[in-house]
Amino acid sequence: MYRVVRIEKVVQETPSIKSFYFVDNSNPAPGQFYMVWIPGVDEFPMSISAIDDLKRFTVKKIGDGTAAMHNLQEGDRLWIRGPYGRGFKPTDEPALVVGGGTGMATLAPLINALRDADVIIAARNEKELLFVDEFPDKEVHIATDDGSRGFKGFASELAAVLIDKKEYGMVYTCGPEPMIKAIVDICLARKIPVQASLERFMKCGIGVCDSCSINGFRVCADGPVFSEKELAQMTELGKWKRDPSGMKVKI
Ligand SMILES: Cc1cc2nc3c(=O)[nH]c(=O)nc-3n(C[C@H](O)[C@H](O)[C@H](O)COP(=O)(O)OP(=O)(O)OC[C@H]3O[C@@H](n4cnc5c(N)ncnc54)[C@H](O)[C@@H]3O)c2cc1C
Ligand code: FES
Repeated sequence: MYRVVRIEKVVQETPSIKSFYFVDNSNPAPGQFYMVWIPGVDEFPMSISAIDDLKRFTVKKIGDGTAAMHNLQEGDRLWIRGPYGRGFKPTDEPALVVGGGTGMATLAPLINALRDADVIIAARNEKELLFVDEFPDKEVHIATDDGSRGFKGFASELAAVLIDKKEYGMVYTCGPEPMIKAIVDICLARKIPVQASLERFMKCGIGVCDSCSINGFRVCADGPVFSEKELAQMTELGKWKRDPSGMKVKI
């Protein structure tokens, strides 16, 4: 079930985020994810952040598993399985893509696949902005919470400004859940189609254990990308998630 891939290149993207490039002959769609296993440490879900000859994971150091991954270097090996889940449905209509923090990792292959997209890249501060120079053919807007670069404020506030100026046929988003919830609410209120990629604690990654459930949807198998119709049914969105033991905890 697992296969071993060799890390070909490591790039420090921000003080807390590194990218790992590897060769793998799987054929993921934008928005899909893999389960990454560091033997003796942990297994965790990771979105695919580039789908080229070299594939890429872009990882924020959070706990033991991601810290162990940050210690890996060129020539080291990773055990992976996947791709899993339902990715983004692309559109030919003008789209707005809103990414906060490592949410940009999930969105990067989608942005490259879209013909006509404006992009909001958001982070707490300028140093944590991800992939600002990666989309030269797209209109890129920057938002930082502290105003150190671009719009001062939340990505959702900037998204509301852009949505009021231009008619978008689809909004795509991934990032911190309060940001996703705010953007979904804006889109539902204005009747704009929206697709959001969600995160929940995952164990199996293939729809068996139920640890990733949100209002009866399994994020690993039914998502991680959900439509506005599904998101509108999720009363737990932005409010509740499950911890590793399955207990419901506040977000
Ligand atoms: C579908 C999917 C795609 C993801 N893609 C990326 C990505 O591209 N880049 C990236 O940096 N991260 C991504 N994540 C989040 C990543 O899986 C977690 O950061 C990772 O599991 C933390 O593992 P750890 O062993 O370092 O931390 P742990 O020690 O296991 O946990 C440390 C903290 O992280 C939290 N955490 C644990 N698992 C998750 C999780 N699944 N989601 C959110 N928080 C979690 C814990 O609640 C705890 O507070 C993704 C998550 C999902 C579900
Ligand atoms: S992680 Fe097991 S059902 Fe989703």
